[in-house]
Amino acid sequence: MDNYIQQEKKYFLQTYNRYPIVVEYAKGTRIYDNQGNEYLDFLGGIAVNVLGHSHPVVLEAIEKQVKRYMHLSNYFYQDIQIEFAKYLLEISKYDKLFFTNSGTETTEGALKIVRRWGNLRNKSKIIAFTGGFHGRTYGSLSLMDKPTYKELMGPFLGNIEILEYNDVTALKENVNEETSGVFIEFLQGEGGLRKVSEEFVQELWNLKNKYNFLVVADEVQSGLFRTGKLFAFEYYGVKPDIVTVAKGLGGGLPLGAILIASPLQNIFEKGMHGTTFGGNPVACAAGLATLKCIYPGLIPHILEISQYLWKRLVEIKEQFSSKVLEVRGLGLMCGLLLNFKANLLVEKLLEQKIITNSTSGNVLRLVPPLIISKDDVDNLFIGLKNALSNI
Ligand SMILES: Cc1ncc(COP(=O)(O)O)c(C=O)c1O
Repeated sequence: MDNYIQQEKKYFLQTYNRYPIVVEYAKGTRIYDNQGNEYLDFLGGIAVNVLGHSHPVVLEAIEKQVKRYMHLSNYFYQDIQIEFAKYLLEISKYDKLFFTNSGTETTEGALKIVRRWGNLRNKSKIIAFTGGFHGRTYGSLSLMDKPTYKELMGPFLGNIEILEYNDVTALKENVNEETSGVFIEFLQGEGGLRKVSEEFVQELWNLKNKYNFLVVADEVQSGLFRTGKLFAFEYYGVKPDIVTVAKGLGGGLPLGAILIASPLQNIFEKGMHGTTFGGNPVACAAGLATLKCIYPGLIPHILEISQYLWKRLVEIKEQFSSKVLEVRGLGLMCGLLLNFKANLLVEKLLEQKIITNSTSGNVLRLVPPLIISKDDVDNLFIGLKNALSNI
């Protein structure tokens, strides 16, 4: 094991804090290392492995597609891409999409749409919010405020204002006729599992009606039924103009999509946007098989297990009220606000072979596969109790 850890240090740019685990294989909600240890996975590849690892239906879909062809380019009509697009648009009630490979590429594409739409109307200002996370490329970074992601990397895109999340006054003071678009996570992931307030959303839509701008919902982490609904914004009764999705969309393979409502369907002309790999047919096959497993069949389980997980987390909060301040998030994108650095709890859970991670300093984040069982939740509960008793 050490050998691989040393080699990683030798060969890779040191950008990741990795767990000290060299993985042999993974199945369901479990990851197995090359020392024979079994880990319970409450990270799910950072909200990617929605059906757990190596789900047989997904493997079969991948195998079938690999045998037909793996890549052709977007110069061809490909049945699997088209079937997936149809299914995704039908259940999301959006009208057109563009496939990408990742979350940050969906942000970049959405930025281009917003800029072009704005330039056609003499609107140049884009708004985003503190605590937001939209990816690591330049456009995405330009929408984010956290210094550690951006230090000494400027200049960034201009005409972007980052306002305080959930600050209604700041919104009213800064959104105006010059605004072309607003990028928002209705439930922030990296920003510490914070939800947007009802009041904030209401004011955003008041301003949208008054000034006419586009709202882009970043559902890269919160989308695809993780919260119990297809998208987190559905809890607020609004319909954004553009939605970005990725993470679990490819069933574990790299895939993202920008979904748009019909008024924007002609925003790009041929050649204005494109990608070599986006919408890769194998990723689409895996994604379609995954989404069909989730919707509608898995929804009752997601709702039930979310409720059970929250019940257990609330018990933990009550039992360790001096250390656990809040249970946060929605559905299976949830966690604990602690009064100490969450990394400490992540380490203590790892000692018990439970994988979690932390965002935003004091927040423990849980984004497990949507197929987790009550036993898995009980194991986490025991792990949390042990860990918190020793901190
Ligand atoms: C809300 C949100 N948007 C965008 C991204 C970027 O996605 P990717 O890492 O696939 O580029 C992430 C990744 O964590 C995310 O959580």
